[in-house]
Amino acid sequence: MRLVPTLGLVTPLLTTSVLANNNISDACSALFDSLSQRVAYPNSSSYDTCMSYWSARQSVQRPNCVVTPATAQEVSVVLTTLIRHNSSFTFRSGGHTPHENGSNIDEGVTVDLKRLNVIQLSDNKTSVSVGAGLRWGDISEVLDPHGLAVLGGRDADVGVAGLLLGGGFSYFSGRHGWACDNVLGMEVVLASGTIVYASASQHQELFRALKGGGGSSFGVVTRFDLATIKQGDLWTRTLLFAGQAKEAIAAAATTLITKGMNNDLDAHAYFVRTHQPNYGGFINIASFYHATPPPAINATAYATPPVFQTFDEIPGAFSNTSAVANLTAVSKSIETPYGQRQAWSNVAFSAGSATVITELISLWEEAILKIVAQAAARGATYSPFVIYQAISSGQLKASKERGENAMGLSPDHGPMVMMHFLSGWDDKGLDDLILQSTKELVHVAEVKTQKLCAHRKFVYMNYGGEWQDVLQRYGPGNYARLLQTSLRYDPQRNLQRLWKGYYKLY
Ligand SMILES: Cc1cc2nc3c(=O)[nH]c(=O)nc-3n(C[C@H](O)[C@H](O)[C@H](O)COP(=O)(O)OP(=O)(O)OC[C@H]3O[C@@H](n4cnc5c(N)ncnc54)[C@H](O)[C@@H]3O)c2cc1C
Ligand SMILES: *[C@@H]1O[C@H](CO)[C@@H](O)[C@H](O)[C@H]1NC(C)=O
Ligand SMILES: *[C@@H]1O[C@H](CO)[C@@H](O)[C@H](O)[C@H]1NC(C)=O
Ligand SMILES: *[C@@H]1O[C@H](CO)[C@@H](O)[C@H](O)[C@H]1NC(C)=O
Ligand SMILES: *[C@@H]1O[C@H](CO)[C@@H](O)[C@H](O)[C@H]1NC(C)=O
Ligand SMILES: *[C@@H]1O[C@H](CO)[C@@H](O)[C@H](O)[C@H]1NC(C)=O
Ligand SMILES: *[C@@H]1O[C@H](CO)[C@@H](O)[C@H](O)[C@H]1NC(C)=O
Ligand SMILES: *[C@@H]1O[C@H](CO)[C@@H](O)[C@H](O)[C@H]1NC(C)=O
Ligand SMILES: *[C@@H]1O[C@H](CO)[C@@H](O)[C@H](O)[C@H]1NC(C)=O
Repeated sequence: MRLVPTLGLVTPLLTTSVLANNNISDACSALFDSLSQRVAYPNSSSYDTCMSYWSARQSVQRPNCVVTPATAQEVSVVLTTLIRHNSSFTFRSGGHTPHENGSNIDEGVTVDLKRLNVIQLSDNKTSVSVGAGLRWGDISEVLDPHGLAVLGGRDADVGVAGLLLGGGFSYFSGRHGWACDNVLGMEVVLASGTIVYASASQHQELFRALKGGGGSSFGVVTRFDLATIKQGDLWTRTLLFAGQAKEAIAAAATTLITKGMNNDLDAHAYFVRTHQPNYGGFINIASFYHATPPPAINATAYATPPVFQTFDEIPGAFSNTSAVANLTAVSKSIETPYGQRQAWSNVAFSAGSATVITELISLWEEAILKIVAQAAARGATYSPFVIYQAISSGQLKASKERGENAMGLSPDHGPMVMMHFLSGWDDKGLDDLILQSTKELVHVAEVKTQKLCAHRKFVYMNYGGEWQDVLQRYGPGNYARLLQTSLRYDPQRNLQRLWKGYYKLY
């Protein structure tokens, strides 16, 4: 080995470092040369429009340019140009990741897929093709008039691609599994620029990896072909309970998750506890959905589906609203204000004991009350939530029937509970405190579930903290398979190196 470089070696090294100093702006210029009207610089209003993200931690980021390709071929040009210039980048669908770098970037290029917005119902209506830049509300608006739905997000504003690539809880998961399990095929742009179709019969390992493994290690999905289901209006009820109903709700939820949902695959629910000074402290929210509406009592009141009846016996409900409406109306009614800084993380455990739920909620209360005090002292807004929901036996069984996904769960793991800690705040000065406290909370919560013999390794990607080892938690066998797939489809590891900010395979 030569220790002293010759002049011949020094020159290219210098050239490379000069190039490297300009690699991102060069990539933007090259993209402008080939796709001019698709490239926006920070001095344009189309750039500003693209900086609308659910979380303020992402909307304050400033990529060197934003590119909005309109076809898979244009995505291929964009991706190969970025790789050729060694420029860091990220892709964005609905922009609902809470943490910075999730789908936006400071030193690099953001590729916003919003122009990939075609929706095409197949002739016999058993499937629908959807562009990767659509939101779930765009799709339900097209499918509702046909009495059809797909397994997708519960909030109309969430993006198609992020939710499907990370798994996807849907109102209909009890009968049909994760949203990703109902994908029939995906059009994918690989790091080489090649466009392939991944499905149960072609590129099977890539297909499996993209169902729950995220996109950033494998390729950019430009179109999803989704199985449709027959679905008319659905029933929903929201109950608000005073703070002290925590134990009674946890007990009723445990019975629901371990028994009721096994017999009624149309049932869906999630349970929220939040601290709201306007309400004088802690309150509980219970949200129920049923894919087969019960009979109406009158114009605004509906019988309670038997699976949820135990909740009607819990004292202290101070609000009780029900509706039977189409999916578009229901998913638009889920409020998701933009503008706050956001963080979330989650833990999973086996269902069966209400004590695990209430003990974890107590740990959450302890953690957030300290922040409530600090936020008040600074005059800052701070909205903490703990949300738990079932990964029901029905969901895991349906998932298995539809073929493998990346997540490594089987019916033997169920039923499970996924508990998700969410914070919204406005003062950047609280970032460190909130993020550190959430990490500690997740740690003590996992110690607690271990102690109570309820621990599950699984972490749900779509509600994962940026620091959580989501892909490792799918288990060593799954992890090895995902890594192998990534190396096969991106042998030079260009996506691993240049696609910043989401869950990575190392
Ligand atoms: C208000 C709200 C409601 C939610 N409701 C639900 C729910 O009901 N069920 C549920 O399971 N989850 C839900 N989530 C979580 C949600 O699934 C995740 O936040 C998801 O990542 C959002 O997808 P997105 O496309 O909007 O996000 P983005 O931030 O745009 O993308 C997420 C990740 O996917 C990557 N990516 C985007 N597009 C592509 C592509 N085409 N190919 C490859 N990679 C890509 C991005 O680079 C990023 O890393 C909700 C989130 C919010 C904020
Ligand atoms: C050039 O690209 C590499 C890889 O993404 C990155 O680490 C480096 O910071 C970039 N250089 C500049 C000047 O942005
Ligand atoms: C905007 O910025 C780009 C890149 O720096 C530049 O080429 C372009 O001329 C600018 N446009 C305007 C209107 O200032
Ligand atoms: C790309 O950037 C990396 C640093 O992230 C650097 O090691 C590598 O040499 C660069 N490659 C080229 C071709 O510039
Ligand atoms: C986002 O990326 C930047 C640049 O790589 C890094 O400094 C920052 O810590 C990242 N933020 C998070 C939350 O990971
Ligand atoms: C619908 O059409 C697809 C091909 O487009 C075919 O594979 C499928 O079997 C058809 N289903 C029904 C129920 O006709
Ligand atoms: C869905 O519900 C909304 C609100 O009630 C209504 O305006 C819309 O027409 C409905 N769509 C269909 C297809 O019935
Ligand atoms: C909510 O209202 C319905 C009627 O719409 C009633 O049957 C039910 O008992 C109420 N539940 C609670 C908890 O108040
Ligand atoms: C509908 O029924 C509910 C529950 O029985 C009752 O509380 C409410 O007053 C009724 N509303 C109307 C408009 O009749």
